[in-house]
Amino acid sequence: MSQAILEELERRRAAAKLGGGVKRIESQHAKGKLTARERIEVLLDEGSFEETDMFVEHRSHDFGMDQQRIPGDGVVTGRGTIGGRLVYVFSKDFTVFGGSLSGAHAAKIVKIQKMALTAGAPIIGLFDAGGARIQEGVESLAGYADIFLQNTLASGVIPQISVIMGPCAGGDVYSPAITDFIFMVKDTSYMYVTGPDVVKTVTNEVVSHEDLGGARVHAGKSGVADGAFENDLEALSEVRRLIGFLPLSNREKPPVRDSYDEADRDEASLDTLVPTNPNQPYDMKELILKMVDEADFFEIGADFARNIICGFGRLDGQSVGIVANQPQVLAGVLDIDSSRKAARFVRFCDAFHIPLVTLVDVPGFMPGTKQEYGALIKHGAKLLFAYAEATVPKLTVITRKAYGGAYDVMSSKHLRGDVNYAWPTAEIAVMGAKGAVEIIFRKEAGDPEALAAREAEYKERFANPFVAAGLGYIDDVIMPHGTRRRLIKALKTLKNKTQENPWKKHDNIPL
Ligand code: HXC
Repeated sequence: MSQAILEELERRRAAAKLGGGVKRIESQHAKGKLTARERIEVLLDEGSFEETDMFVEHRSHDFGMDQQRIPGDGVVTGRGTIGGRLVYVFSKDFTVFGGSLSGAHAAKIVKIQKMALTAGAPIIGLFDAGGARIQEGVESLAGYADIFLQNTLASGVIPQISVIMGPCAGGDVYSPAITDFIFMVKDTSYMYVTGPDVVKTVTNEVVSHEDLGGARVHAGKSGVADGAFENDLEALSEVRRLIGFLPLSNREKPPVRDSYDEADRDEASLDTLVPTNPNQPYDMKELILKMVDEADFFEIGADFARNIICGFGRLDGQSVGIVANQPQVLAGVLDIDSSRKAARFVRFCDAFHIPLVTLVDVPGFMPGTKQEYGALIKHGAKLLFAYAEATVPKLTVITRKAYGGAYDVMSSKHLRGDVNYAWPTAEIAVMGAKGAVEIIFRKEAGDPEALAAREAEYKERFANPFVAAGLGYIDDVIMPHGTRRRLIKALKTLKNKTQENPWKKHDNIPL
């Protein structure tokens, strides 16, 4: 083999690695962004990246495109490892035609999607692009549809994660939308179907990129994103952390890691977590952090629908998905947003065999026209449906209120909860004592003293866990300090749980 042939390979590799050239790379850095390749380096274990299709070029001849061919065509694709475990990755290169999607670019992504599905390994997409390659037209639209199809086929089979690290507009938004998790980078990323210019033309509304689709909008208001991070480095290292909680595919169980936290660790401070006054809030996150191994909790959707907390933790090394009402926000009520958020999380866990731990302190569903007009019935039903169909181990702890329909929804015994515990402070009833007596003793409304006596009587009868425990709906009333120990024991008994739903093509969850 002549030296010239070897050098030709090196020359071609170097050209591909340079992407859109030094100037555009500098401009990328000046915006506070890493390049597509730098991002992959941060995301994957050092030296583990194996690139595919580095030499692919677009096939377009229109608008002078035949004079502009850049190897790789605006997306870097391949595989590598995170914590020694296989993952597939594609990373849009904004320095090459603004990361825009041509037919060839799309084919590279589809190829890597198919490889990930075949191998049974997660796929992570890093987005930083201007949408469809405008010079290409319909070939680009076809490419998007090919990607959406693969996303859909892979849903529930391999974890799919999208990180938005720059523009993500038009055709680019729907692939992330189908994936399991979307993370954004604050200030440098934005996501929308149509940008500010089109918005102005169509609706006369004047809005900035940031206010239309910035990280704060999607992580806090729309719930499209599951998290917003300060910069590229933080976003990528958090994705590495998330992968550590997940199985590589639905063909395997979630990972069990060595834990340095005692399985029988008691937390005396939990005995005073719930205040004496039932209307006083407390921070449910304190329970979560004291319960999981090493206080390591990866929260999903931390800034959206904060009245419910979702995230991953470990119990004696075993990954679990935690869903918890947050009494500190809107008293932990279930509304449209919290139902949507938790339902999607429950379904993710169920698809990937991740046991569910549900911590309940819920006063019911949110009343009002805003909620009813917004289809609270359908959205609340999503969470109900998700818990009902889930066949993973389901552990529940009621810490305080479990009122009305929300009691049923939150992984109750009646929805096949495997182990249902309550703290002595639990109140399991159709509604709060005050509301209850105002309805059933309406005739005594003019007599506050009689009403107060009725309220005390109702509380005495129902504001405790023992009626439900007496019926077998609660398996045991446990001391708060022993929650971690009891859950770990229960989880171990469910290691080989089997449960199947009736055969169906697929279900029809209320969308
Ligand atoms: C081809 C593109 C491009 C595109 C950007 N570029 N978007 N090339 N097709 N869609 C090129 C630019 O020409 C420029 O090339 C380089 O990328 C950087 O772009 P700038 O505009 O200089 O960058 P910036 O100022 O940061 O603005 C970024 C941007 C803007 C907001 C994303 O480029 C933009 O508005 N692009 C068009 C977005 C768009 O309308 N896309 C089509 C959506 S429709 P040079 O050579 O100067 O570096 C769609 C439909 C699909 O996607 C639906 C499928 C379901």
